[in-house]
Amino acid sequence: MARRPMMAANWKMNKTIREAEEYTAALLPRAADADEVDVAVCVPFTCLHEVGRMSEDTRVTAGAQNFYFEDSGAFTGEISAPMLLDAGAGAVIVGHSERRETFGETDDMVARKAKRAVDADLLPIVCIGETKGERDAGGMWDKVSGQLSRVIEELENVDGESIVFAYEPIWAIGTGDTATPEDAQDAIGKIRDLLEEEVGEDFAESVRILYGGSVKPENAAEIMAQEDVDGALVGGASLEVDSFVQLIDAAQNTVAQTEH
Ligand code: PGA
Repeated sequence: MARRPMMAANWKMNKTIREAEEYTAALLPRAADADEVDVAVCVPFTCLHEVGRMSEDTRVTAGAQNFYFEDSGAFTGEISAPMLLDAGAGAVIVGHSERRETFGETDDMVARKAKRAVDADLLPIVCIGETKGERDAGGMWDKVSGQLSRVIEELENVDGESIVFAYEPIWAIGTGDTATPEDAQDAIGKIRDLLEEEVGEDFAESVRILYGGSVKPENAAEIMAQEDVDGALVGGASLEVDSFVQLIDAAQNTVAQTEH
């Protein structure tokens, strides 16, 4: 399997600049050995410049958690892709369910952000996923494929390395209620199949699809062992360096196991 695993931290609305500095200083030496894993840390805008500066020329990529798809203008409170690059970001989460549900982001906005990030050379981590009600009613795939299709429509001549998807069932986020490894594989396998049909085989084989939702050191290995799962987007368990490093190590071990 040619895909490099990725472990991405999502701090959400947590940490001051001082706390971000302490975290990054502790993380960098410990992440340096996991040379088979791409590590991204998606931080609040206020910490981005500092985390970007500290992680420059290291194996850790500083990322943001959102941006707006226009480059400049009368968009009070928004941050653009060139601004993120200027602050040192190499990645950005797009369409997290908290943004969709609490801040009203639509499939259309998410798709335009994904496209703008790719064009700006910022790696978008595009989130898709269903609610508990939708899953219980048998509507998981309708929801997820609808969100995905709108992003696919926007992508033209994009290679698989320039975008990452994250399947994050909303009922598993921050709840401790992780999807079973089989559920994660089932959804992510279907996402990859749809990408193959709609975008092409090369794209589908090379694009990374992460799982997100209550990933922690105790469950990471079995989730990472699933064939189509290329890593994780992690909220709660990324806030402490120790547990995030355990997740990076779990991803690194998965690579070691597949090679033997
Ligand atoms: P969680 O969050 O790991 O705390 O469930 C994941 C996410 O929201 O990306």
